[in-house]
Amino acid sequence: MRVGILTGGGDAPGLNNVIRGVVTKGINAYKYEFVGFKDGWKGPLEGLTRPVTLADVAHINDEGGTILGSSRTNPIKIENGVARIEENLKKLNVDALIAIGGEDTLGVATQLHQKNFKVIGVPKTIDNDLSNTDYTFGFDTAVNIAVEAIDRLHTTAESHHRALIVEVMGRHAGWIALHSGLAGGATCILIPEQKFSVDKVCEWVESRFKSHYAPIIVIAEGAIPQEGDMVTKDQTLDSFGHVKLSGIGDWLAGQIEEKTGKEARTSVLGHIQRGGSPTAFDRVLATRFGLQAITAAHEGDWGKMVALHGTDIVRVPLASATEQLKLVPLERYKESEIFFG
Ligand code: F6P
Repeated sequence: MRVGILTGGGDAPGLNNVIRGVVTKGINAYKYEFVGFKDGWKGPLEGLTRPVTLADVAHINDEGGTILGSSRTNPIKIENGVARIEENLKKLNVDALIAIGGEDTLGVATQLHQKNFKVIGVPKTIDNDLSNTDYTFGFDTAVNIAVEAIDRLHTTAESHHRALIVEVMGRHAGWIALHSGLAGGATCILIPEQKFSVDKVCEWVESRFKSHYAPIIVIAEGAIPQEGDMVTKDQTLDSFGHVKLSGIGDWLAGQIEEKTGKEARTSVLGHIQRGGSPTAFDRVLATRFGLQAITAAHEGDWGKMVALHGTDIVRVPLASATEQLKLVPLERYKESEIFFG
């Protein structure tokens, strides 16, 4: 069998481990050939390929990013997009596709499967917001990067008696904020799932200063104040209809300064959370996903996504990953509130 492989959406540490798992098992165990599609769905849409041999994947387990490149190209929105993909797969003699991505990439994979394409999905997102898998790879690395930043920021907050705000990624789901905030001992954690009160945040800031310990606030980029709206960078949309976020941290710093008279500053972690080498946890998870994805292809179990349930890698219907986002349950958020203030 000739198998196409692509990585779409925002990059996440662990993408190369999936590729290595898929290709190594595919060649050594099943004697398959691989076609690497460049830059997400843009690859099969425009016929952009690169070779992926055993030598190409042998030493990429500690490399962040993706050797295939990525994009947010949405072929469903492009005229004749699906037909062009079909044509290119035929031209290149590609029998099946392994699509590694998040909500958008797997959403396209689901639609292609419904049109009888042979597709297997692998869940990726640092946001950890895909359903029907306990974790996605990339999340653990992002949380560890955020925790290191929080640990480092504590010293500046203390030395300068400032409130420091750490803005982390998380458009709709606050998993990175919740986990990094808990691990980093945040004064409070603000997530998109639960609107926050600026006055309450200011109370927590004041009470933390009273304990002679400077406050650190961890806020997800998609967090929304009770008194306002989501803060966006500008109004431009990507091809999946998402606005660019970032700015809520600065907005909150302004509010804190105005209401408490204390100096407040923001650090926006941005793409640093997606960069560099994956943690050991993400390397192992991504490798296991890759091994199971190519086994699913070998067994012709099309339209499935590999997923983590407990400690097992299982297969679930592709569509179930994107039917709804996996948000932080209110009770999970509430249990962290005991540390606020
Ligand atoms: O991959 C998801 C994500 O990390 C979101 O949390 C974030 O809003 C988005 O990517 C930003 O990605 P980019 O800047 O690459 O469009």
